[in-house]
Amino acid sequence: MVPAAVRDAPAQQDWTTLHRQVAAAALLAPSAENTQPWRFSSAGRRLIVSLDRARTLDSDVDMMLDLTGIGACVENAVIVARNAGWETTVQTLETADSVATSALRPVAALEFSPAGPAGDPLAAHIAPRCTRRRMTATPPPTAAELAALSAQVRVPGVTLTWVTDRREIGALAKLVGHGNRIRFECREFHREFYDNLRLTPAAAQRTRDGLDLATLQLPGHVRVVLRALRRWSRMRIANACGFAAAVGRQARRETAASGALGLISVDQPTAEAFVAGGRTLQRVWLAATAADLALHPVAALPVFLGYGRRPADPRLSRSQRRLIEEMVRGFERVRPDVAGRTLQMAFRLGRGPLPPVRSVRRTLTDVYQDQQPTPAGQEQHS
Ligand SMILES: Cc1cc2nc3c(=O)[nH]c(=O)nc-3n(C[C@H](O)[C@H](O)[C@H](O)COP(=O)(O)O)c2cc1C
Repeated sequence: MVPAAVRDAPAQQDWTTLHRQVAAAALLAPSAENTQPWRFSSAGRRLIVSLDRARTLDSDVDMMLDLTGIGACVENAVIVARNAGWETTVQTLETADSVATSALRPVAALEFSPAGPAGDPLAAHIAPRCTRRRMTATPPPTAAELAALSAQVRVPGVTLTWVTDRREIGALAKLVGHGNRIRFECREFHREFYDNLRLTPAAAQRTRDGLDLATLQLPGHVRVVLRALRRWSRMRIANACGFAAAVGRQARRETAASGALGLISVDQPTAEAFVAGGRTLQRVWLAATAADLALHPVAALPVFLGYGRRPADPRLSRSQRRLIEEMVRGFERVRPDVAGRTLQMAFRLGRGPLPPVRSVRRTLTDVYQDQQPTPAGQEQHS
């Protein structure tokens, strides 16, 4: 609960108390490769959420994954504020040229006003939520369970589509396999993956970010192989022997063994839409956590479909571009209803165990600053 003094006399001191409380919950959000690309600053009444450009992914398309994480983080803030009796107005910020190249890109401004009775049932699931990568297809999520998750979609322009037909799941799994193969075949993506992979718990604790190998729920021999293939020279040899293709087949099998696939799509590939889509993903994920359903994002599908929308990327070989074309055509064939929109995120849903270890987050001190002036030169739209 927020102290009564905070609600009755919102002096600057009190806003920062609330902002710190909100940011502490927001930073528990998921992010692609656990890069945690957010920074918070308290600016008078407003809490500004910015994208930390040093933490964005080179492989991303239109900053889609980075902004999905920011959206998830904003939704955590809104939920925890509501739970404490505050309603939040979220304005997405349009960055003017003057700040467009600075280290931080302001993305959202949050303002809080006293609301009715405190409480949000999703708040209790913010801390326990995690990525559950091991799951089985049976028993599949029930229609009532899927409907409860769909009820979390609250923003116009964001759509959640369920894929429950086994043949369609199998066809999309093949496309996910292609995407994962490309990730391990391409030198730049290999570097990015290993830059963000923490091979030991000590490394994960040191940086407090990145993918802790122990959280990935991989069999022991796969962990050994991944450690051995850190150097591109070795990965290249392994790929010549079919390693990346085997990763693709494994991702395909894994995806085919999902109880259902969720597809979050938006009308337009804009920053505002991606933040809204990220907020939606987080609400669905929290509701899945409440229902003890395992949820596992599979970014390879939306990302490489995104590459399919862009001019050919020089980092990709001809055969990789062909795989992407196959992904685009395959997706249009299987889900023409979603293919006309921008697929922002795909995720597996099913039943499975919790990971043995939880992924680490940076501390509030690392990501939050009091009393930053509102960044100059930006315009707002709601
Ligand atoms: C936008 C986004 C994309 C993600 N893509 C993947 C993915 O492709 N594969 C995967 O295993 N996990 C993926 N994740 C899960 C993150 O790796 C995970 O959220 C992060 O490591 C923090 O761990 P936690 O979710 O257990 O807290 C993604 C998460 C987000 C928010």
